[in-house]
Amino acid sequence: MEWPGEFVSEPVVVTHAGGSYPVYVEPGILGQLNQRALELLPARRLAMIADTTVHQLYQTGRLGAVTWCGETLTVPPGEASKTRETWAHLTDGLLGRGYGRDSALIGLGGGVVGDLAGFVAATYMRGLPYLLVPTTLLAMVDASVGGKTAVNAPLGKNLIGAFHPPAGVLADPLALSTLPEREFRTGLAEAVKHALVADAPYFDWIETEVPAILRRDSEVIVRLIRRSVEIKAEVVSEDERETGRRAVLNAGHTVAHALERASHYQLAHGEAVALGLIVECEIGEQSGIAQPGLRTRVAALLDEFGLPVRVPHSIPLTALLDGMQLDKKNREGRIHLALARAIGSVHRTERWTTAVSPAQMGAALKAVGEA
Ligand code: NAD
Ligand code: GLY
Repeated sequence: MEWPGEFVSEPVVVTHAGGSYPVYVEPGILGQLNQRALELLPARRLAMIADTTVHQLYQTGRLGAVTWCGETLTVPPGEASKTRETWAHLTDGLLGRGYGRDSALIGLGGGVVGDLAGFVAATYMRGLPYLLVPTTLLAMVDASVGGKTAVNAPLGKNLIGAFHPPAGVLADPLALSTLPEREFRTGLAEAVKHALVADAPYFDWIETEVPAILRRDSEVIVRLIRRSVEIKAEVVSEDERETGRRAVLNAGHTVAHALERASHYQLAHGEAVALGLIVECEIGEQSGIAQPGLRTRVAALLDEFGLPVRVPHSIPLTALLDGMQLDKKNREGRIHLALARAIGSVHRTERWTTAVSPAQMGAALKAVGEA
């Protein structure tokens, strides 16, 4: 991916109880990492956290000009690193190097590193400021915005964590040029989710731009990231702690998290989100909440992006229901889903979620399962 000329754009601003932070979507911004970090985190001793793959790409200049001159702590790439054990390794590493309360962190990488670095920042010495520098499409459009930090537990995804907003986000679309095809496509699932829950014209636009998106046309990708960030910023600024509307950003995720766990994390997060959106649209249609045809339209777009659209036979219903038992939106022991009712709109209830029975879940999974 190359950028044709100079780029000037205002950051998207996210507000939260303690203030606000900018999200820059700017081709080439990674080449100004040191300078931007010093501006956003002044008078701090800085440490970077990255996975080994991203760290190597950065060190060899393949993500852009290398400007970072501080220390870096690395973790192995992938979801398997999002654990309490890695959190302990990182916090011990910082303690051993003498980082104090006057320090700050930078998370460079995909959603795994972002969630992990954010959770280290939330807990180290009772909380440090941090910057996120997302390098996957999924992290640029979604994971780096909103201040949710977490690690996984054997019983489920993201069950141990904290709300801890970053001091800023630097998203450089040029860094996506090294991203493998599978990882690129998984990010598109979250963009489709944003359009589905909040913005029908955005959904229409994504449908018309599929070829340009898949060939990573730089201007189209910048527009896609920017629109998704605007949508997420608007929702989380209104409801930082997910007491209400923020649940719409969880569309597809209740089923997705259970699918990820049941597949032993063989399904990537975005692949599971694609399936989760389709299953949850099916539940919406079967229960009369969603417009007929919603699932077909959403599945057609996800299919064009090469994302999975049929739940694999190898994943039994019982494993999925087990996986949903500890979902954070559950109330009185019942599964609650944020259900789309039409493109661009979620079924509105007091908390934006609707109770779903195991029988409803089973019927939808049957309809969306492999033939
Ligand atoms: P990831 O962080 O595992 O990255 C995917 C792979 O891409 C890794 O192997 C990584 O090394 C590699 N990679 C990253 N940048 C690269 C680049 N520019 N070039 C080449 N390779 C690169 O996965 P992800 O899909 O970015 O994130 C998924 C995680 O995000 C999940 O754990 C999910 O729960 C979390 N998430 C969090 C939020 C939130 O609000 N906090 C939202 C959505 C998802
Ligand atoms: N990924 C859902 C949220 O950030 O709220």
